[in-house]
Amino acid sequence: MASSSHDRAVLHNGVQMPWVGLGVYKAEDGDEVIQAIKWAIDAGYRSIDTASLYENEAGVGQAIAESHVPREELFITTKVWNTDQGYERTLEAFNASLERLGLDYVDLYLVHWPVPEMYKETWKALEKIYNDGRAKAIGVSNFKKHHLEDLIADAEIKPMVNQVEYHPRLTQEDLLSYCKEKGIQLEAWRPLLKGEIFEEPTLVELAEKYNKSVAQIILRWDLQNGVVTIPKSVTKNRIEENIDIFDFELTNKDMSRISALNQDKRNGADPDDPEFYKQFD
Ligand SMILES: NC(=O)c1ccc[n+]([C@@H]2O[C@H](COP(=O)([O-])OP(=O)(O)OC[C@H]3O[C@@H](n4cnc5c(N)ncnc54)[C@H](OP(=O)(O)O)[C@@H]3O)[C@@H](O)[C@H]2O)c1
Repeated sequence: MASSSHDRAVLHNGVQMPWVGLGVYKAEDGDEVIQAIKWAIDAGYRSIDTASLYENEAGVGQAIAESHVPREELFITTKVWNTDQGYERTLEAFNASLERLGLDYVDLYLVHWPVPEMYKETWKALEKIYNDGRAKAIGVSNFKKHHLEDLIADAEIKPMVNQVEYHPRLTQEDLLSYCKEKGIQLEAWRPLLKGEIFEEPTLVELAEKYNKSVAQIILRWDLQNGVVTIPKSVTKNRIEENIDIFDFELTNKDMSRISALNQDKRNGADPDDPEFYKQFD
């Protein structure tokens, strides 16, 4: 189990990935995202999760360029958006992302959503990018077990990561054990449910018991479940708080109490909802 912010998850190709990263969805390009990343790096973060959809890759790149940390110590993730899926378009989208980021490689490139009829061609492009050494690892996002099975059946390279919605209202236990069995690292998006769960009495009680915030209790639960987590904040003290989770340990009983808050309830889109993809037709 991770016991310091220097600990890393080891992906199935041997690449090391920080357990906690900074999510930057809805962080504005320019000063806001640049400042957030600088605070994060000062607080010990080494991983940043962006996407072409977030329209802030340029700011992420500027923050990296201005950072005092060597590039090889950072772990930068970006993603191919739904309208760019398909083999050729993904290769072009990847080049455009690298250019905006001002980088010659990313640490992790993800297929953002399993767009039906498209994701296998997209995956071939990611395999090429990986084989060319332009992404140290490749993975998927929002893939359910059936998507993973379908992809793996034809893939040359098994995804190293699956980034999915994951929090105490959506504990995804079957998917997590399937991913562990296959050596695919699960990564939690919207881990804090955007704060919508902060009043939950069990979490408030545990926060008091461990003398931590509710956010820290949830993020620690992620780690102890073996899940990489990427809370988003553009607020200095919250950025610092969200990585300060390596000095305590939840008991097994408290882990189970948090898991029992599950309602299989999504905050974002269901990856199987055809309506969600219609907007990209
Ligand atoms: N792959 C995908 O499809 C997908 C989808 C959604 C998200 N993501 C990734 O996952 C990341 C995290 O998810 P998210 O941004 O949707 O939600 P989140 O991390 O669950 O919540 C972010 C919100 O919580 C607030 N917050 C953060 N830390 C806090 C703290 N310690 N105390 C109180 N409030 C706090 C932030 O406010 P301030 O910023 O104002 O401080 C922000 O409004 C995203 O940024 C993105 O990188 C991926």
